[in-house]
Amino acid sequence: MQRKELQIFSGNANRQLARAIAGHLGVPLGNCDVKRFPDGEIDLKVTDDVRGADVFIVQSTCPPVNEHLMELLLMIDTMRRASAQRITAVLPYFGYARKDRKDEGRVPISAKLVANLITTAGADRVLTIDLHASQIQGFFDIPVDHLYAKPVFLEHFRKMAEGNDLAVVAPDVGSVKMARAYADELKAGLAIVTKRRISPTETETGHVIGEVKDKRVIIIDDMISTAGSICEAARAVIGKGASSVILAATHAVFCGPALERIHSAEIEKLVVTDTIPHVMEPGSRIHVLSIGQLLARAVQRIHRSESVSILFKSFNP
Ligand code: R5P
Repeated sequence: MQRKELQIFSGNANRQLARAIAGHLGVPLGNCDVKRFPDGEIDLKVTDDVRGADVFIVQSTCPPVNEHLMELLLMIDTMRRASAQRITAVLPYFGYARKDRKDEGRVPISAKLVANLITTAGADRVLTIDLHASQIQGFFDIPVDHLYAKPVFLEHFRKMAEGNDLAVVAPDVGSVKMARAYADELKAGLAIVTKRRISPTETETGHVIGEVKDKRVIIIDDMISTAGSICEAARAVIGKGASSVILAATHAVFCGPALERIHSAEIEKLVVTDTIPHVMEPGSRIHVLSIGQLLARAVQRIHRSESVSILFKSFNP
């Protein structure tokens, strides 16, 4: 069955990225006013006709997380009641992902609850990037297209791949798989920093496993929250004689002391994507790569019922 019309809508979380996606696809961004009632409740109105349409709602559940999540749920509900034919929730950043298991007594599995909420609201599919844990895909009983920001970062790092003094470093054991994938592509060495979390904002770095002496190091993580993990890892590899350090992370959550930590770290630069919007000052050491084209390609392929995984075999922006 030919789907009627592809329509892209955005909540307030990342309109800039939604506009970029719509721009790459050559469609206008749908009209949806997301406002607040005086008591803080969300007031929402879609002014475009979406009956029978293939609707994509772009909304990162970044801070303020609960606000953005609720906006997303209400937008999905609105589209369903307005008879959209299919609704895809596009979450460039999927918040609440770090609580993906019951690792102690009497705690929620927040990622599962959020998956249930999105499904119950009426989403037919989910499109997201670099989930904190890929098993979260299984928390949904609807299709999840899980993209990787890797092609966008590799394009940026490709020039560095010359020479045999490059090492990709995982700032903790959880990031090893991701770091290994980058190391393989860049034909670089791989090292791991062991980390112990002391509190939500503090980490303690243990050992550096692998060779970093005199190496140009790229430390890669899925997200930066308070920047404790990645900056501690930078300190550890510098302590072991790394010649230079570049930090990279898909999701720049940047909360609490993050920016202060990044600016005082002995690094060349930090490279992030625009899954979460930030305004960078001119001359900032933080370099933002856009994920818009990758997402646009995925949206187009989903709309046409074409393979999405092919995007990772070749990517020529
Ligand atoms: C941890 O498992 C994640 O991959 C990140 O390393 C972590 O969430 C980053 O948090 P922070 O920046 O606060 O250290």
